[in-house]
Amino acid sequence: MRGTARSRATRAAVPGALLAAWLHLGCEAPDTVLAKHGCSSCHAPTTEGMGPSLRRIASHYDSRETLIQFLEGKSTPRVSPEGFEAMKPMVARTISLTPEERARVAEAILRHRAE
Ligand code: HEC
Repeated sequence: MRGTARSRATRAAVPGALLAAWLHLGCEAPDTVLAKHGCSSCHAPTTEGMGPSLRRIASHYDSRETLIQFLEGKSTPRVSPEGFEAMKPMVARTISLTPEERARVAEAILRHRAE
């Protein structure tokens, strides 16, 4: 029992340390950007979850600019409009990011585009 608790604590500590290192180096791994903003809990790379997969989202956006417009709240949803209620609060969040961070989020999504 104690061993399990300890290994769970170790696992939880590692991503935090990695994140701190990436932030320090100024070169975050793209998916870390999505995790940091709470996107990964609903969006997985290739599988459907609470939200559409990152690959499916990327297939609907052919440019970074159009995706950024959505993240700025300036365009309507085109992937699963019927499920937009669940996504809406997150757009409020992406609107409040700096333009640089929003561009990083868009880039992190688009790199999941299928070849
Ligand atoms: C609570 C679950 C949830 C979280 C957290 C979440 N999303 Fe979503 N997201 C959804 C759902 C559901 C949809 C499908 C509705 C839609 O297409 O807008 C969606 C759709 C999207 C789309 C497609 C928009 C379109 O054109 O239809 C983008 C882009 C997106 N999310 C980005 C993000 C980003 C970036 C974050 C983190 C800041 C995030 N999501 C966090 C649930 C979530």
